Amino acid sequence: MLKVAILGLGNRGRIYAYQLSKNKDARIVALCEKNADVLEAKRQDFGVPKSAAFTSDEEFFAAGKLADAVVIATQDRDHYGHAMKALEVGYHILLEKPVSPVLEECHTLYKTAKEKNLHVVVCHVLRYAPFYNKIKEVIDSGAIGDIVGINQTENVGYWHYSHSYVRGNWRKESETSPSILAKCCHDLDIIYYFTGKKCVSVNSYGSRKLFLPENAPEGSTPYCLDGCPHRKECPYDVLKIYYGVTRYTIPYMIVNKLLITKKAGASLKEFREVLKTSPYGRCVYRCDNDVMENQVVNMNLENNITATLTMTAFSKQCFRRIHIYGTKGEIFGNDKDGKFRLSIFGGPNKKVKVGFAGVAGHLGGDRMIIKDFVDFLDKGVKNPRLSLLETTLESHTTALLAEESRKAGGKKIIKE
Ligand SMILES: NC(=O)c1ccc[n+]([C@@H]2O[C@H](COP(=O)([O-])OP(=O)(O)OC[C@H]3O[C@@H](n4cnc5c(N)ncnc54)[C@H](O)[C@@H]3O)[C@@H](O)[C@H]2O)c1
Repeated sequence: MLKVAILGLGNRGRIYAYQLSKNKDARIVALCEKNADVLEAKRQDFGVPKSAAFTSDEEFFAAGKLADAVVIATQDRDHYGHAMKALEVGYHILLEKPVSPVLEECHTLYKTAKEKNLHVVVCHVLRYAPFYNKIKEVIDSGAIGDIVGINQTENVGYWHYSHSYVRGNWRKESETSPSILAKCCHDLDIIYYFTGKKCVSVNSYGSRKLFLPENAPEGSTPYCLDGCPHRKECPYDVLKIYYGVTRYTIPYMIVNKLLITKKAGASLKEFREVLKTSPYGRCVYRCDNDVMENQVVNMNLENNITATLTMTAFSKQCFRRIHIYGTKGEIFGNDKDGKFRLSIFGGPNKKVKVGFAGVAGHLGGDRMIIKDFVDFLDKGVKNPRLSLLETTLESHTTALLAEESRKAGGKKIIKE
């Protein structure tokens, strides 16, 4: 039985807590969350004793080793400090991405974990989703021959982008990470996972076109619910974003009520009230955001494999599209469909249906990463897809070099 502690019970921490609570080989034994309401609610849900529930990370770490492993699901800039402390105490770690926006910190963490003989698994959850597992299986079978190139597109979705990257937690590079790392380290990891080849050189361009003060319509107000006269036609109107249900969006209020109100069990009335003054209720043209809205990365990988990645805010749906070109065939698919097309040159075209691993997030990846993490630490079963820190360094290095290139106007950066 793997004993697990969880640090940070926000959106991600709660998902992992739920998945751990469903895993018969794991037990949640300690929690740390600075929001006391949330901590108490989750402490009761998971039957954690009061003596093992902390509102302060300092007290949590000072309490010594309470579990075999800790899930670290705090914000981007805190991962490194929390992970270093966890290693000091002697925990194996399931660490949310990004490991750190500072490459030296990623390497220091790796070195420290190795010295202490502790494992760090990074939450590159796409690797664990059936859609990507099946593609990997087809590639490894040799059906499409040798990979020549990959085109990957991350369509963030205008509604998701505005929530996370304009109004929300990941809007400002200095507080979190550049969007190419925050959003796309998964894509870069998938490119590495599929090819097994490292990036040799990279260049990148990016832009910010829409979410700028000069685009604020005349007469618009700082908060949507301040009486803004443009609410009817504005797709970013706060009530459309959080209450709206379209074919392509979920009512965002369901998943973000706690994040925005910071109150466990807040009512819909309270939620609406908070939106009048919350950062999430701001006019999208009047926020303090600075991360890229649109970015393209061109990569030359070992073995002369080429790869491109496009990340864009400007899509109606939130999904990834992947096209893999091989010497004998190609693979093409949208991950939200749960199926892809496999075309063999001079041979058949086949639709490969894979579905999702239950209704869990990231196409089932959130559920399967917990399974693999527990199997690895509790039973010593190491699934080859396991996203250990050493394999994660590649995605982070490429993202940060791409960002360096973008800032230098698209200059080619050769990896040392
Ligand atoms: N793997 C993925 O696909 C994926 C998806 C979304 C977000 N993330 C990453 O997961 C991390 C968490 O994101 P989130 O959406 O859950 O954020 P969140 O803000 O909802 O959750 C963070 C939680 O940590 C708590 N916290 C912060 N500092 C703390 C401290 N010092 N001590 C105790 N508690 C503390 C906060 O109160 C909050 O509840 C981020 O780094 C984010 O980039 C990963």
